[in-house]
Amino acid sequence: MPDPRIDIHLQPDHAATALAADARTGLTSSPKTLPPKWFYDARGSELFEEITTLDEYYPTRCERAILRARAADIATTTGANTLVELGSGSSEKTRLLLDALREAGTLEQIVTLDVSETALRAAAADLAAEYPAARVEGAVGDFTEHLPLLPGDPTRLVAFLGGTIGNFLPAERDLFLRTVRDMLKPGEWLLLGTDLVKDRATLEAAYDDARGVTAEFNRNVLHVLNRELGATFDTDAFAHGSHWDEEHEWVEMRLRALSAQTVRVPALDLTVEFAEGEQMRTEISAKFRRDGVERELGAAGFALSQWWTDPEGRYALSLAHAE
Ligand code: SAH
Ligand code: AVI
Repeated sequence: MPDPRIDIHLQPDHAATALAADARTGLTSSPKTLPPKWFYDARGSELFEEITTLDEYYPTRCERAILRARAADIATTTGANTLVELGSGSSEKTRLLLDALREAGTLEQIVTLDVSETALRAAAADLAAEYPAARVEGAVGDFTEHLPLLPGDPTRLVAFLGGTIGNFLPAERDLFLRTVRDMLKPGEWLLLGTDLVKDRATLEAAYDDARGVTAEFNRNVLHVLNRELGATFDTDAFAHGSHWDEEHEWVEMRLRALSAQTVRVPALDLTVEFAEGEQMRTEISAKFRRDGVERELGAAGFALSQWWTDPEGRYALSLAHAE
């Protein structure tokens, strides 16, 4: 079995430069924010996998159920030779698509992109072992920067699963979809997973589980800042919270200072003050409605071909083609 090819698009000093820039911007703005991409070091990727198994965290289960029901349809409709997965993580649910493409006799190439090198390497090695007839090409990179560098022969099916599109702000989302469209030829495909708007209690619980795994995932970003930038965050001095923002239709994950804190960030030569009770936003997770998804896809140059939800209408998969 050939080893997968792995391309590293991140600069060796990625953490020192890109994280430093993001941390400076976020920690000096008001309110303070940090971008969610920095959750995903090796530990963060493991914690995310644990989140996907939690009772409260329904999106993974719902998406898996839709994929199980629709993968054969997706394979015959798209006739894709190449599956390109963005933000692939463990690529666990992706096997349902890959099995269907293999079954349909079209699968030739698998391209996976993730910013988490540990997750990407492990998943690419497993995929190479499980799909020996396909070329597996992993890329360690940022899906907001490196899409034009990805390999992949037409006909491509780009999968962006898990609801990760919800972690962008609306303007970032628009730019991202246009960039995906630009990498495709007319008639190629996008499979997009989106979590849907629902009641506050379900949404807030999905991001604040009883076992505290999501809290640990959230605080992991402080460990990353401590390790990479020498920051002095006392991670126990910040409480995890989730809040459904009904106006923007997104869940916010926050870290709240339990007391006044002074944090040094030596790599930035920066001292950051937190007031008692001050909240820092670490992630948004936007929730969608069908008309919004269709409109945003259309604005980026995609036409919606299929919209599938789980039986309870909690989560949707959209299959769209590039116009
Ligand atoms: N697609 C998987 C994983 C979702 S978790 C699923 O459906 O379960 C989000 C994934 O996106 C993580 O693996 C994380 O490392 C990756 N990620 C987050 N920000 C990223 C970025 N800017 N560029 C590339 N990958 C990113
Ligand atoms: C990756 N992303 C879609 C997850 C989400 O649901 O927004 C990340 C996550 N954050 C907390 N729990 C899971």
